[in-house]
Amino acid sequence: MKHLLKLLDCSTDEIVNLLDLADQLKYEKKHNIPHRHLEGKSLGLIFQKVSTRTRVSFEVGMYQLGGRAMFLSNRDMQSHRGEPMEDTARTLSRYLDGIMLRTFAQERLERLADCSSVPVISGMTDFAHPCQVLADLMTIRERYAQLEGLKLCYIGDGDNMCNSLIVGGLKTGMEVAVACPKKYQPHSMVLDFADRQKSEGAKFLLTDNILEAAADADVVFTDAWVSMGKEEEAEERHMAFQGYQINHEVMKAAKAGAMVQHCLPAYRGEEITAEVFEEHADEIFEEAENRLHAQKAVLVALLGKQNI
Ligand code: CP
Repeated sequence: MKHLLKLLDCSTDEIVNLLDLADQLKYEKKHNIPHRHLEGKSLGLIFQKVSTRTRVSFEVGMYQLGGRAMFLSNRDMQSHRGEPMEDTARTLSRYLDGIMLRTFAQERLERLADCSSVPVISGMTDFAHPCQVLADLMTIRERYAQLEGLKLCYIGDGDNMCNSLIVGGLKTGMEVAVACPKKYQPHSMVLDFADRQKSEGAKFLLTDNILEAAADADVVFTDAWVSMGKEEEAEERHMAFQGYQINHEVMKAAKAGAMVQHCLPAYRGEEITAEVFEEHADEIFEEAENRLHAQKAVLVALLGKQNI
């Protein structure tokens, strides 16, 4: 692996090896075992969208690994005044050991990676959120000790989270069921991937029926109805997503004791009820914590050149 731009680029072994490394780094952190694999290394964090979890977990992760992270606000960079991504990549590659970018178009991230001589990591685009889904898979595996054969259900917008969950879930042998309105389906590239996996025996369902998707699920996911950059569509989206909510009825359709995962921030009363959120808050905030451990694994693998 040279970059982490989307899970579609990763093999199953690469994903599982990252999860194993994340478990090890979490254990080392919890037991105060030094793991300064990135002594002297620097990571640039470019944010073209706001963030709480991604920014803090990458900054703290680099610190715990013995390196340093530098927050680069888009507002303060020359790229904001039109400097091409290609020139930004070639310049930053001369200073840094790695670059994380949170941006809108996946194509912008891919262009940065094409021209960068150091590893580039996705901090989320409109297409994919690979670091989040690595943390999600880690959290599910911690609960069930395996991923293969479990059923993952996603309800809501067929957005970056949905795309990455479909890919990450299917690549690790999970059954994946997605319920979303017809207008907000996952990306065609991801649906093509799911079709190919299905032809090789994987289980994948795309429906507009939330109870059908949730039936016997081991883990139920959702995401905000109005993602970043879609604020102008807020009213239309609120209408379209009515009914695409994780509530007690959905949890009754899922397996008894099923997990709920939410990448956060959560909008109670919209994609999830306040009751279901609070009943599953421990596993949702464990998922948020696991961003730190999963990203440390990505950083060690890419910047520390640990073989993955
Ligand atoms: N889930 C997630 O990426 O959170 P932030 O937007 O706060 O980084």
